[in-house]
Amino acid sequence: MPRRLTGRIVIATHNGGKLVEMRELLAPFGIEAVSAGELGLPEPEETGTTFAENAAIKARAAASASGLPALADDSGVCVAALDGAPGLFSARWGGPAKDFGAAMARVEAELASRGATDDRAHFVSALVLAWPDGHEELYEGRIHGTLVFPPRGGAGFGYDPMFRPDGHARTFGEMSSEEKHGIDWSAAAPEPLSHRSRAFLALAKACFAPRA
Ligand code: IMP
Repeated sequence: MPRRLTGRIVIATHNGGKLVEMRELLAPFGIEAVSAGELGLPEPEETGTTFAENAAIKARAAASASGLPALADDSGVCVAALDGAPGLFSARWGGPAKDFGAAMARVEAELASRGATDDRAHFVSALVLAWPDGHEELYEGRIHGTLVFPPRGGAGFGYDPMFRPDGHARTFGEMSSEEKHGIDWSAAAPEPLSHRSRAFLALAKACFAPRA
């Protein structure tokens, strides 16, 4: 049974790009969101074998360390011709310097070394809300698209410049934050675009009081 979320929560991330997006997504709901980084919480090791497991590891760790409900996103880009890589390892391909220009170059190089012609990819986001008493909820979203080399655009973060969502001419890196993950809350609105906003819409419908 989904539990209503009010008051203060921890966003269980140390990733600045994700933090910005998650704060924008939470903004309409009057939730006070503090990040795990701001609270000085340690980053747990992501030892899961799925996005959902890794999101649960991060959310549980932040909820038990802070005593507050915690929201974690585990996400990544899965490249069809690389058997789903970098996938769960999307952050790690950026290396300690979090260099996603290098990570995108690696995707391109690995595709070339396989002589791959399939340019399909998708992003996945698993959102887990964990309460200090052990209650947990999971919401997932994905978006399919095409890889673009050389990558285009300076907006967003991570692999945004190499990903063009289906039905669009521009990459995520060329879109405003509103286009990438804005949610139109009217009843007849089309689905939001990004994996994270799709997962968040499902979470918001279940866990937040209806919007006025
Ligand atoms: P993690 O979920 O913290 O393990 O990191 C996921 C990684 O996937 C991020 O560091 C990004 O490189 C990548 N990623 C996840 N979501 C997005 C997105 O919306 N745009 C671009 N890259 C993303």
